[in-house]
Formats: sequence, structure tokens, C-alpha cells
Amino acid sequence: MVSTTLLCFLPYLFLLFPYTTSYDIIRDYSGSTFFDHWDFYGSWDNLTLGDVWWLDRASAFQNNLAYINEHNRAVIKVDNVSDVPFNEKRNTVRITSQDSYGVGSLWIIDLTHLPYGCSVWPAVWTKGPTWPDDGEIDIIEGVNLMGANQYALHTLPGCSQPQGVVQTGVSGETDCSQPSGCVVSEASPNSFNAGFAAAGGGVWAAQFDVAGIFIWFWSVRDVLNCRKRSIADAMQS
Ligand SMILES: *[C@@H]1O[C@H](CO)[C@@H](O)[C@H](O)[C@H]1NC(C)=O
Ligand SMILES: *[C@@H]1O[C@H](CO)[C@@H](O)[C@H](O)[C@H]1NC(C)=O
Repeated sequence: MVSTTLLCFLPYLFLLFPYTTSYDIIRDYSGSTFFDHWDFYGSWDNLTLGDVWWLDRASAFQNNLAYINEHNRAVIKVDNVSDVPFNEKRNTVRITSQDSYGVGSLWIIDLTHLPYGCSVWPAVWTKGPTWPDDGEIDIIEGVNLMGANQYALHTLPGCSQPQGVVQTGVSGETDCSQPSGCVVSEASPNSFNAGFAAAGGGVWAAQFDVAGIFIWFWSVRDVLNCRKRSIADAMQS
């Protein structure tokens, strides 16, 4: 796998809450300073060819598709009010962290809402320096009417998920070089779609480690009482 990776966030954001005891906090993206350390894509979707235009920073703020809301939470969203003629592009936002993070990192992603429904594809994912050769970790990715979140790793040929790993998710493709990547479906309810919204959000932790790549999900009710505790502690239990 790659030695450094960038965080890429698609529609709707997110606060990061790195309350840990065994990791040092390198960066906390939250509140009024959330947007300080991100680049906005500023192009149409020339990678996955979606019918969207990912606005640059100035346009995203002018169009109210990126802002800090009254609860001091960062929001990025798709334009869900304009009529967009067939074959034209709908405005939305894609942001990429200016910092990259190496092996030994733990990312905590704390969200209150993700868009869902037909034609939306929210994601929080990481990539190596050269995409796709240097790999990709998809931490949050739901498309259209998928009922639960899906995790995936994308690599060049030669990487696969081993048999018999201890996990609560359900493995699909295990060869990470296939177009889908190697895939694990989240088993927890409320990890995507209307269930995630109704629950009021949730928290993911993704550990990028020499021992492997590990991802945990908690629905918001399961972390409300322990947000002040260490999420690293919660991962032990
Ligand atoms: C997509 O557009 C961005 C911004 O203009 C550019 O930097 C990048 O090279 C383009 N990628 C492809 C695959 O065309
Ligand atoms: C558009 O999104 C906002 C949330 O940003 C939501 O409150 C509103 O109901 C949505 N409008 C439509 C037409 O879906």
C-alpha cells in the first residue's frame, strides 16, 4: 500500500473529533475553522464522469454549497434546488485535505448527515500520491439507494483481503485490484441512507497501520456518552 494518503470528502461534511489517548492530534477539522486546510476541486467530474461540477472555493461559498451552519458545523452539499437541463452539470463540492497522512494514522470522522437517494454518491475516501496506482481507501461510500455503508480498498494487482478476518462487516469481492476494489459491507444499521439521517449521524474511525487497514462505525447514540472519552478506548471494547 501507499505510504501517504490524502483525505477526500464529497458532499456534506463532517467534523473530525480526534479524542484519543494513544495518538497525538495532528489536525482537528471542526467548527468555524473547518475549511482552512482543504482544497476545493474546481472542475467538472473529470474522474468518474458524473454530471456534476465541483465548485472552486469562492463559488462554493457564494452559492451556499459550503458553509458553517448555526450549530457551528461544516456543511458541504449539492445544489438541490436548481433545475439542471439534461447533459448539463449540477453544482456540488469536493474537497481534498492539503495535508497527507502516512502509515500510523487514525482518522476520526464525525458526521451528522449524509445525502442519500437516487443519483447521489457521498464519500469520504483517501488516495495515494498518484491515483489510482498508489491505492485508495474508501471509508464512507454509498450510492443511490444502498441501505448500508460500504468500505473498499483499491490497489494494483497483488493485494487481497485474507480469509477468516475477524470482522462484523460482510466481505464481497476480496481482490482489491478488481474494479469494485475489495469490499466489506457495513452490518450496523443506520450507517447510510435514511437510517443514518434519522439516527442523527454517526462516527467512523479508520486506522491506517502496518498491521492492516481497520475501520469502525458507531451510530451517534452509541457515542453520545463517550465522545469525551477516548475513541481509542472504545475501539478496545
Ligand atoms: C481534472 O481537472 C483538474 C482541474 O482542472 C486537473 O487538475 C486534472 O488534471 C484533471 N484530471 C483529468 C483526469 O483530466
Ligand atoms: C435541499 O437540502 C436542504 C438541506 O441542505 C433541505 O433542507 C431541503 O429540504 C432540500 N430541498 C429539497 C427540494 O430536497
